[in-house]
Amino acid sequence: MNRMMIISTGSALPERVLTNFDLEKMIETSDEWITSRSGIKTRRIAGKGEETSKLATSAARKALEMAGLGPEDLDMIVVGTITSEIAMPSCACLVQKDLGAVNAFAFDINSACSGFLYGLDLAEKYIKANPDLNILVIGAENLSAHVNWQDRNTCVLFGDGAGAVIVSGATPGRGMIAGKMFSDGRLHELLWMNSAPSLNPATAIPDHDGSYIKMAGRDVFKYAVRALAEAITYVLNQEGLDIDEVDVIVPHQANIRILKSLADRLNIPLEKLYINVYKYGNTSAASIPIALDEANRAGLLQEGKIVLLCAFGGGFTWGASLLRW
Ligand code: UT7
Repeated sequence: MNRMMIISTGSALPERVLTNFDLEKMIETSDEWITSRSGIKTRRIAGKGEETSKLATSAARKALEMAGLGPEDLDMIVVGTITSEIAMPSCACLVQKDLGAVNAFAFDINSACSGFLYGLDLAEKYIKANPDLNILVIGAENLSAHVNWQDRNTCVLFGDGAGAVIVSGATPGRGMIAGKMFSDGRLHELLWMNSAPSLNPATAIPDHDGSYIKMAGRDVFKYAVRALAEAITYVLNQEGLDIDEVDVIVPHQANIRILKSLADRLNIPLEKLYINVYKYGNTSAASIPIALDEANRAGLLQEGKIVLLCAFGGGFTWGASLLRW
């Protein structure tokens, strides 16, 4: 059976840093509240020239460079995003154009914070069929354009950025071992965002209050911890592995308290999780590939290490993937 492996990583973040102290001047909040409830200290905010596809392209270039590949070597581009700068064509097609990846086909996945992991899971199926393919999987978001900056319940939590990986057929003993994706659309109203208002009178939504993220934070929190733990246990059981055999967990970065509760539930030290939520906040689909790139470039993912990725987000969507690096 052909396995898929991640051959390179890349990430890109906007220049502008928004601190909790900056937010104190914008809304009724405090550094103390944000830090204690979420672990977040700063987040990046995209400006002109840092639209979703531009961040995605920049992350992709770094991944191409690490892989020693050119854009024409790519066969497929998939972008997990819910915040592309235009509705059509896909963000992936804009990335393809900017890279000059003339041999690739390109499309987006809308699975909210799980978008990157869903993309990786899909790429694995293509690689199983043809291990010679080079597939670019990206998570990229511009959430700062979709939070209500008057809503302190949400605006302090999110940030912008992009991460990318290139996957191809694995060398023996390496690659993706197991993975399982889940959804439960019945819970969609706990975390959702309106589509952009239409100017077409036939399809305009009356009383449209903007395409902002809306969230029942406490419910999302509880469900996320349970779902992440169950997904992780599921993929470990698939392979008969114990959690102690996992070297590094790179989780979706939404809230330090979610990650602490997850570590408690799995009975593992928090140090097993790679965490950067304090720097970037919740970057939705971008959070796992940004963290993966940081961990990779920091030398934490040496060959042979067992790496576990897990995501949870709007839909609800969630999942876990297990790789031997
Ligand atoms: O990627 C997946 C998507 N999202 C998540 O994973 C987020 C999951 N949820 C969470 O992370 C947490 O529920 C939050 C960080 C969103 C909120 O933490 P919480 O401990 O659940 O707080 P809460 O929503 O129960 O609010 C407690 C209080 C409220 O005041 P009252 O009603 O008790 O007087 C809020 O109005 O904190 C207030 N509050 C704030 N205060 C200062 C809410 N936001 C803020 C704020 N600054 N930014």
